[in-house]
Amino acid sequence: MSNEVPLLAARALTKAHGRTQALRGATVELRAGEILAVTGTSGSGKSTLLHCLAGIVRPDEGSVVYDGRRLDQLPEKQLSELRRTEFGVVFQFGQLIPELTAIDNVALPLMLAGVRRTEAHKRADEWLERFGVRGQEELRPGEMSGGQAQRVSMARALVTGPKVVFADEPTGALDSLASEQVMTALVHTVRETGTTVLLITHDHQVAAYADREARLLDGVVRQDSVDLEVAQ
Ligand SMILES: Nc1ncnc2c1ncn2[C@@H]1O[C@H](COP(=O)(O)OP(=O)(O)OP(=O)(O)O)[C@@H](O)[C@H]1O
Ligand SMILES: [Mg+2]
Repeated sequence: MSNEVPLLAARALTKAHGRTQALRGATVELRAGEILAVTGTSGSGKSTLLHCLAGIVRPDEGSVVYDGRRLDQLPEKQLSELRRTEFGVVFQFGQLIPELTAIDNVALPLMLAGVRRTEAHKRADEWLERFGVRGQEELRPGEMSGGQAQRVSMARALVTGPKVVFADEPTGALDSLASEQVMTALVHTVRETGTTVLLITHDHQVAAYADREARLLDGVVRQDSVDLEVAQ
């Protein structure tokens, strides 16, 4: 363990969804440039933790500090600006825009950032290629397989060059060969650019691509979370 200041740190987070206590004091840190795998059984609070860390959901208690700023206390406008410019998110359940084709979904964050359409399409196309879905540019989400949608979501999360990528089961609908292809593309990109990644997965082979693993159990991060030997 190094003693450098983490890029993103959540301390003692609690979060209830109605009567369900999804997080019960979860503490986790991400150092700049590392890939952290978050594992745990279904319902253990993984997605809730990711949403809190990415500033999508505010925790009930605890703190989320990103690059010296308290995300959990940031006004909504600054928070959404920060999310748009510094974070990329792959949601567990798609969230591609149904009316837009694959290429338009991937190009959208660039166009929102002021990149011209032709340039945005060119870059989107490169990202679709990296994730192995070139040739499916014109498909709309309703016409894609689950695995294709996940690859398009991954391309969309990375296209703007975010500092942190949050990916919630990005290979959940892929077979092992396709998982390997997507993970190789992800790891290659983030190592090249020094991007920090929080990756939720239940697949040990996918977790093995990470530098460390944090295991969630009933809304807390277990003490036996490990440094993985098999870092790339
Ligand atoms: N919007 C919601 N409304 C009510 N309960 C919710 C909501 N979101 C999550 N929960 C509950 O909170 C708990 C944690 O959910 P969460 O989605 O964080 O788990 P998870 O570890 O991501 O599970 P999975 O592996 O199945 O995706 C679960 O018991 C779930 O039923
Ligand atoms: Mg989940």
